[in-house]
Amino acid sequence: MTMLKPKIIERLNNQVTSETYASQLYLQMSLWCEDRGMHGAAAFFRAHVPEEIKHRDKLIDYLVESGASVEIQAVPAPSNDFSTLVEVLQAAYQHEQKVTHQIHSLAEAAMEEKDFSTFNMLQWFIAEQREEIVLFRGIVEHIELTGFTGENGTAMVQMNRYLHRLVLGSSHPELD
Ligand code: FEO
Repeated sequence: MTMLKPKIIERLNNQVTSETYASQLYLQMSLWCEDRGMHGAAAFFRAHVPEEIKHRDKLIDYLVESGASVEIQAVPAPSNDFSTLVEVLQAAYQHEQKVTHQIHSLAEAAMEEKDFSTFNMLQWFIAEQREEIVLFRGIVEHIELTGFTGENGTAMVQMNRYLHRLVLGSSHPELD
């Protein structure tokens, strides 16, 4: 017997699919980069895959703890149709903006339903999405600052170094 309302269970199940999609998207982006020898960028995206799996599992654990059913849904194939690394990085930022909107909309639904438990659980995701936006917006701003257009050469090598330093946890990868 669950205390959660069907509408909330459905929304949380959809978010499980959305987080799974994000993990697949970043895996695909990583492999797109590997195919082109962009190993720093590939490492950055690959390192982000378990982050998304963590988000997925947190939602699943909450549903299970709440006595609600989880139904694993089909996940659409992620896009692989990119022409430059700039396009890939911008698409990743746009995706994080979309997920942030989904989380905020979920929190709004939980509030409307007076589902304080789900609302409380979602606070973690709200904070997490804020971090995700800081991370991905920082990359897009770095692209703008450096005028990187995705061409091969010194700028590409530097961009790969920058992205690899992000994997290593540098908070100012442009200065290291
Ligand atoms: Fe699950 Fe990158 O947000």
